[in-house]
Amino acid sequence: MKDFFWDSSYNVGVKKFDDQHKHLIEALKDINKAMEDKRDKLAIAQVINNLKKYAQEHLIEEENFLLDIGYPDYEEHKRQHEIFKDKLAKFCDDFNSDRYLLHFEIAVFLKNWILSHIKVVDKKYADFLKEKSGL
Ligand SMILES: [Fe+2]
Repeated sequence: MKDFFWDSSYNVGVKKFDDQHKHLIEALKDINKAMEDKRDKLAIAQVINNLKKYAQEHLIEEENFLLDIGYPDYEEHKRQHEIFKDKLAKFCDDFNSDRYLLHFEIAVFLKNWILSHIKVVDKKYADFLKEKSGL
């Protein structure tokens, strides 16, 4: 998947979060690769779970950071994270209980959400930081 490469358009200007976003994109790649290789359910569940765990930690760190800097759209940003976490938890439940076997749909959802969240929603706090620092 060509569009899983990091480029500067993902930059939010906070090194810690840029690094974490890179890691998320790597985790997306792993999921995609496991699916393309048609690995077994357990292996796919494991890579999805890796991303889920990492994403949860990342989102909390980002939320704490936004609170610290007095980000005015904090509530809306957090709400977006909650929607993502709920949706991801549902996918994982369905996946684990075999109610839902369209692995590809999970991969597309994760990819679309993560990439557009970084580029659109996270970019807003990047802009806020720039403004705040007078750049
Ligand atoms: Fe975010």
